[in-house]
Amino acid sequence: MNIVLLGYPGSGKGTQAKMLSDKFSLFHVSTGDIFREAIASKSALGLEAAGYISAGKLVPDKLVLEVIKARLSTETRGVLFDGFPRTVEQARALDEYFTSGGRRIDAVIFLDVDEGSVVSRLSARRTCKECQKIYNLLTSPPAKEGICDACGGVLLLRADDSPAVIKNRIAVYKAQTEPLVAYYKAAGNFHPIMGGEAPDKVASDITAVLETRTR
Ligand code: AP5
Ligand code: MG
Repeated sequence: MNIVLLGYPGSGKGTQAKMLSDKFSLFHVSTGDIFREAIASKSALGLEAAGYISAGKLVPDKLVLEVIKARLSTETRGVLFDGFPRTVEQARALDEYFTSGGRRIDAVIFLDVDEGSVVSRLSARRTCKECQKIYNLLTSPPAKEGICDACGGVLLLRADDSPAVIKNRIAVYKAQTEPLVAYYKAAGNFHPIMGGEAPDKVASDITAVLETRTR
């Protein structure tokens, strides 16, 4: 089973991806996490991606596609894509790559959340520096301020979660990623989910869709 999670910045892709990849034993591929790890380790990829990410712009398709192909080359499990594809060009390239390997995207899960909610969610997000667990200071705070419940790591505000960069990311989403809604509707594997519900309810709604797809 290969799944794409699509939605606004802050729509809950990462939160759902962690739950669903455990539940369905899928390989979780978050291009955002890959770039942040590369930036933290000061690799050549990180140096190239950093300027785009800090401005809230998309990393160029060519670089993203190289990263994805490298990640998928030896993986045999089903894949859960989080934050990829993000442009029609990326979606076409993924379709070609999968088709040539006899695979397909089984479901595109669109987390439908209004713009106002994502702005407040992103401003209150904190992420564990060690295990990447995602918190929200308003709706899902850690038991101990600033410390991850799961691993004891330090919780950080993401560098691209400042108000000005959030605004750019939303504008970029509308211009470059929203066209994927029409692309995947036409492909017939598009499943909108009410992403404004509580995380567990969103997860059970997605699970219901995935169970019908695999039946
Ligand atoms: P990326 O890391 O993918 O960021 P994003 O798409 O902007 O999405 P976020 O990670 O901010 O949000 P999310 O949907 O994962 O929400 P989360 O679960 O954390 O990309 C970052 C950058 O990398 C891009 O801007 C771009 O520069 C570059 N990049 C990455 N992929 C690329 C690609 N394919 N092509 C080109 N460039 C690329 O939740 C957010 C908050 O809400 C949290 O606090 C959480 O606790 C809370 N929350 C989650 N669900 C709920 C709920 N149901 N109810 C209440 N609160 C909730
Ligand atoms: Mg994310």
